[in-house]
Amino acid sequence: MSYPGKERGMDPNTYYLRTFGCQMNDHDSEHIAGLLEGMGLRRRARPDEAEVLVFNTCSIREKADRRLAAHLREAGHLKEDGPRLIVVAGCLAQSRKEGLVEDFPFVDVLVGPQSLHELPRLISERRATGRWTGAFHDETTHFSAELPRADIAGPTAWVQIMAGCSNYCTYCIVPYVRGPEASRPPLEIVREIEGLVTAGLREVTLLGQNVNAYGLEPGFSYGVTFPDLLELICEVEGIQRVRFLTSHPKDFSDRLIEVIAAPNQVCEQVHLPVQSGSDRVLAAMGRHYDRRTYLDLVARLRAAVPEVSLTTDIIVGFPGETEAEFEDTLSLVEEIRFDGAFTFIFSPRPGTAAARLPDRVPRDVAEQRLQRLVDLVQRVARERNQAWVGRTVEVLVERPSRQSPGEVMGRTRGYKPVNFVSKAPPGALVQVELLDATSTSFKGREIAGAGALGPAVSCPTPAGRRLEAAAQGRG
Ligand code: SAH
Ligand code: SF4
Ligand code: F3S
Repeated sequence: MSYPGKERGMDPNTYYLRTFGCQMNDHDSEHIAGLLEGMGLRRRARPDEAEVLVFNTCSIREKADRRLAAHLREAGHLKEDGPRLIVVAGCLAQSRKEGLVEDFPFVDVLVGPQSLHELPRLISERRATGRWTGAFHDETTHFSAELPRADIAGPTAWVQIMAGCSNYCTYCIVPYVRGPEASRPPLEIVREIEGLVTAGLREVTLLGQNVNAYGLEPGFSYGVTFPDLLELICEVEGIQRVRFLTSHPKDFSDRLIEVIAAPNQVCEQVHLPVQSGSDRVLAAMGRHYDRRTYLDLVARLRAAVPEVSLTTDIIVGFPGETEAEFEDTLSLVEEIRFDGAFTFIFSPRPGTAAARLPDRVPRDVAEQRLQRLVDLVQRVARERNQAWVGRTVEVLVERPSRQSPGEVMGRTRGYKPVNFVSKAPPGALVQVELLDATSTSFKGREIAGAGALGPAVSCPTPAGRRLEAAAQGRG
């Protein structure tokens, strides 16, 4: 990998930010950018142009570590050309700590995901002392959402409702790098969304590793559960769509199904990672549900919300997974007929329970299983999308198309991308006839443009007032 134009030189007081990993990391990066801009740094699109190079990292699978190593080595070469600062933020910084500086001695600042608020101090300290610095809190004391945020492009925004994870699925590193589950106070969430809507945003996606556990951790005193929170958010005037990620099947309640089914702004879309179709493997993964419970949950969800768009995550090649157990996963996918799935080969993460399990599945076997699974997932997803062709649906325009001038990209309530010719601006809700489908997207034809919506009237909402009164009562 090389960056053309290196000779053009870099601008002082600029930064480059590259993000890896999940939506939570994307969201954290908006706040990293906000903090750096608060320090007077301006963003640059290329690493060779910037003084401060920030990599917000992921540690979920080994491949993520390897990709980062290549980027860091390149950044190290850039540093030979002039004074630059290299910052490694996020989950890999937290999991490797000073080990990263041993491997990459040119790294200047390390900052874990629970310590992002310390970034300006760490950068100043590094500049003053010339020695590498780092911060790694184990628990959430500051939610990223409380930090300054860089401008959001488009009509949709992430909203963090929780940090951390306390589930300790045996394969997963997240609880070790993101700390225990912590829920944000509901009033802060509602206030943030009111602000976003006032600024013109139309859709929010609530973020947490297991949003269904919102408000359930010991010590959370607001008496608001996840379905309550969704109802409060729907009261924010002007909010058009509400989504959430990720749902853990073991905590998905019937009350949540009712809230999704109700005629409100909560979209008919659920990402419900199943991980495996085999009871033995699910137990070994520490998922706390079995195949039957998952099937029953999906049946209840589909009975209440027939058009729900259902996606999942699946791991193949978990230690000891037999051919028959893998076929249980295939048959589950056939039976449920997901709208899409993220599929992964098991990757042993240092420190997790599954990394110590015997009977690793050979790489070539796991790769063949992955391919069989991907083929099946794609066929089913294409068939499910094709069943929508001919229907007219509501689409929220997100942005101009990257490939075809004159076209825009928007999404259905089921979060499926639709490309169509339109003059409607981002944020407009339009009716679109679906003309053609692949396994992941649609081509459509605009029926009638609703145009951009007027500015939202907000602050304070009835929900906000109720929560404020409750907070005062407690105080
Ligand atoms: N909190 C979310 C997402 C966690 S990470 C959830 O529980 O669903 C996203 C996905 O990465 C997981 O759902 C899982 O399918 C996959 N994953 C996590 N750890 C992994 C590992 N060690 N090897 C392979 N895939 C993994
Ligand atoms: Fe990882 Fe499980 Fe937590 Fe998801 S719920 S982040 S898979 S430990
Ligand atoms: Fe996300 Fe990767 Fe961390 S998936 S929580 S950025 S380990």
